[in-house]
Amino acid sequence: MCTDKINNEDMNRAAALIAAGEMVAFPTETVYGLGGNALDAKAAERIYAAKGRPSDNPLIVHIAQMSQLEEAARDIPEQARRLAEAFWPGPLTMVLYRNEQVPLTTTGGLDTVAVRMPGHPVALELIRRSGCMIAAPSANTSGRPSPTKASHVMEDLSGRIPMILDGGTVGIGIESTIVDLTEPVPMILRPGYITAEAIAEVLGEQVIWDPAILSPDGIGRPKAPGMRYRHYAPKAQMLIVSGAEEAVAEEINRRSAGQRQAGGRVAVIASEESAERYDADVILTIGSRTDEDEIARRLYEILRQCDESGADVIYSESFATPRIGQAIMNRMLKAAGHQMIEV
Ligand code: TXA
Ligand code: MG
Repeated sequence: MCTDKINNEDMNRAAALIAAGEMVAFPTETVYGLGGNALDAKAAERIYAAKGRPSDNPLIVHIAQMSQLEEAARDIPEQARRLAEAFWPGPLTMVLYRNEQVPLTTTGGLDTVAVRMPGHPVALELIRRSGCMIAAPSANTSGRPSPTKASHVMEDLSGRIPMILDGGTVGIGIESTIVDLTEPVPMILRPGYITAEAIAEVLGEQVIWDPAILSPDGIGRPKAPGMRYRHYAPKAQMLIVSGAEEAVAEEINRRSAGQRQAGGRVAVIASEESAERYDADVILTIGSRTDEDEIARRLYEILRQCDESGADVIYSESFATPRIGQAIMNRMLKAAGHQMIEV
């Protein structure tokens, strides 16, 4: 993990900004976050404003040590300690009852709070040096793909925030799994790198999904407010085509030809294995089908490249890979406004 771009002085300045109620963008292992003091309602307001984010969409509180869990949450169930032991620091967020000192501004008006201990040395050091728990959403403009590099944060927020800590490209590339422990049965509100199966195994009990997340056409009202918005969206219209490799290529090429004849610019998102089958204005290779981690890591950057390419229409293969495919497809379907066909 590249952290050598950040020197001691940068880290001190960032920590001082957080302690003073200001915002700093920083790397985590999942995506870049836009951080502020979690106990300062004004800092949370600044974050909502900088992102253009509705203030009923709560922020995740990032901690660096287990004692801070008690500062963020109350009535903490045994399940939370077991999950923390298994997965923290790491890409798991737990929804718990809010400790009163966490302002409602941070939790979007809810009496629950989302907490996570990130697995990135820069994030952990920033929390420790600032002496604050850090509330942070992903550091993108609301509606844009989450940033996986400092340059993505610059694209979206340059001039609106005082500082970005550049820790290079993140390792995971999609946001943390969110599990709600205030439900009678632990409930997955957002799929991520840590699977429901892995959580169920640690808990030794059943874990359910928020039904609205599983709906293939996006019908229903997800419990996590942020999952209700069209998200991760490139500017162009996007369609996912799923099926056997050859049939998918044929269908995409047919549609691509029609679009281009009508004067449209077409981008295709393809795996390394099938990229050469396509005929389009821009072909974006996301990675090998044999490496789902790479597909996850590159997804948001590819969606940003679609925008830069000036495409009017994007056709993408489907990437329902074995382990984190559910998390990848959740993001892709949202990017496509749930437009997917089977061939
Ligand atoms: O990996 C991540 O989780 C990244 C890094 C920066 O830590 N953060 C992130 O934050 O993805 P954000 O704000 O982009 O997404 C947080 C999600 C939103 O969908 C929000 O609605 C949900 O978490 N959330 C936060 N607090 C909640 C709560 N108390 N109950 C239900 N959902 C909550
Ligand atoms: Mg986000």
